[in-house]
Amino acid sequence: MNIYLSCDSAAKSLGAEQVAKAITQEAEARGLSVDLIRTGSRGMVWLEPLVEIDRGAGRIAHGPVTPDMVPALLDGSAETLGPVDTIPFFARQTRLTFARCGITDPLSLTDYEAHGGLTGLRRALAMTAEQIVEEVRTSGLRGRGGAGFPTGIKWDTVRQAEADRKYIVCNADEGDSGTFADRMLMEGDPFTLIEGMAIAGLGTGATKGFVYIRSEYPDAIATMERAIRLAREAGWLGLDILGSGRTFDMEVRVGAGAYVCGEETSLLNSLEGKRGVVRAKPPLPALEGAFGRPTVVNNVISLATVPVIFEKGAQHYADFGLGRSLGTIPLQIAGNVKHGGLFETAFGMPLGDIVNDLGGGTASGRPVKAVQVGGPLGAYFAPHQFDTPFGYEEFDGAGGLIGHAGLVVFDDTADMRGMARFAMEFCAVESCGKCTPCRIGAVRGVETIDRIAAGDTGAVEILTDLCETMKDGSLCALGGFTPYPVMSALRLFPEEFGMKEAAE
Ligand code: NAI
Ligand code: SF4
Repeated sequence: MNIYLSCDSAAKSLGAEQVAKAITQEAEARGLSVDLIRTGSRGMVWLEPLVEIDRGAGRIAHGPVTPDMVPALLDGSAETLGPVDTIPFFARQTRLTFARCGITDPLSLTDYEAHGGLTGLRRALAMTAEQIVEEVRTSGLRGRGGAGFPTGIKWDTVRQAEADRKYIVCNADEGDSGTFADRMLMEGDPFTLIEGMAIAGLGTGATKGFVYIRSEYPDAIATMERAIRLAREAGWLGLDILGSGRTFDMEVRVGAGAYVCGEETSLLNSLEGKRGVVRAKPPLPALEGAFGRPTVVNNVISLATVPVIFEKGAQHYADFGLGRSLGTIPLQIAGNVKHGGLFETAFGMPLGDIVNDLGGGTASGRPVKAVQVGGPLGAYFAPHQFDTPFGYEEFDGAGGLIGHAGLVVFDDTADMRGMARFAMEFCAVESCGKCTPCRIGAVRGVETIDRIAAGDTGAVEILTDLCETMKDGSLCALGGFTPYPVMSALRLFPEEFGMKEAAE
């Protein structure tokens, strides 16, 4: 009997290790031959720890499992959820980037190859750098960290730059509230990120890669480090990748806990061992990045999507999505929601469907008041905006951003003025201090919201003006985007700021 159980840190924090121990002990006590296989997560966090049992007729799911349920699981008398593929949350997904996550053993090279791994890299090895970049451009892939810049264009800038060394830097400093796609991917299918980075190296002429992972992700760090070692030993990385005579190697670098180090230039400073302060652009990292050399800085999901593009073809990927948002996006549904988890789907799903159909509404059972999309710098959306399709331009047009595709749901008890204050406070704490609108503006923002809370409605105009200054005058997205949550809260819930109607 094969038993599959996630080793993802979300599953672990919900008791997966205790369940694993109970399975091993119970099987031993019964003299049962059980193969306990640790996989990544299927992404249905509300069902974790999710146990799948295969008695020869496919994997049958049970969850959430507690250690006292283990005897019934082994008897075959425990309640089941049926095959995972038939659970509606899972069945409705289009899994391209996360195709293997939850199915394979994350550190098994044979499992990886048996499920399509390395097909993309082998194809890329037979192409010129120009053809590789063209393939990425045709796929329509855009930066999944949040900015949505076309990946093919970024790679082409690096490809064309003349330099003695070039680098691929993977931004795994996933700091947005409610997001966990990067972590889930690194813990659940690390070889796909390695393969994507190797293809990026072939396409741009870079021979060295760094994965910059936040220190708050110890499991992802350990898994990536082991995966890189295994890939090197197997000849997938190093001086002669897959016997091609081509070189690409990589290593993990660990951050030290600053949100702003997710900003690419600040990340590069930190990577180089300097203080994580934002650099002015230009020069773009694509021309002068890590150690002053041309560097691709891409998010985990952007790079981890590259292998499937090369495996199935750029057009296959581009056939999903809407408008200029092509392919799939791993939505991360979190906050006060019944069914929290990761849902990979083609762009275009209306926000309301994500919150109400997939998420099942609030966990508290109360009405949804607002959803913050795109992390702490993302705008709030209220139910009357729920027909907004999930896409870069569509969200921009509605006064928001999709960011790294994290959604945090709030019920009608949420204090929106308090949330606006929190946004300013967060910016004040996390500011790198380089520019005045952010460093001083965020502190003044907290004070101004406190004045409004004390009944000074005249301060709303000052807050609006301050947000304009931060938006236009900040050097990076931290100061520049903090006005999104503040102003959207003010626009949607003016009464909580002592106003009768929305301020402009
Ligand atoms: P940006 O718009 O300045 O740049 C986007 C990317 O394109 C950068 O990598 C930039 O170097 C590159 N680029 C621009 N023009 C180029 C050219 N001609 N050739 C080659 N490369 C070029 O945006 P930025 O400041 O890098 O990111 C802001 C975004 O980050 C926001 O939209 C926000 O959603 C997101 N964000 C994500 C977080 C996360 O945890 N994933 C946290 C905070 C913000
Ligand atoms: Fe630093 Fe804030 Fe200016 Fe960004 S906006 S450079 S975080 S001070």
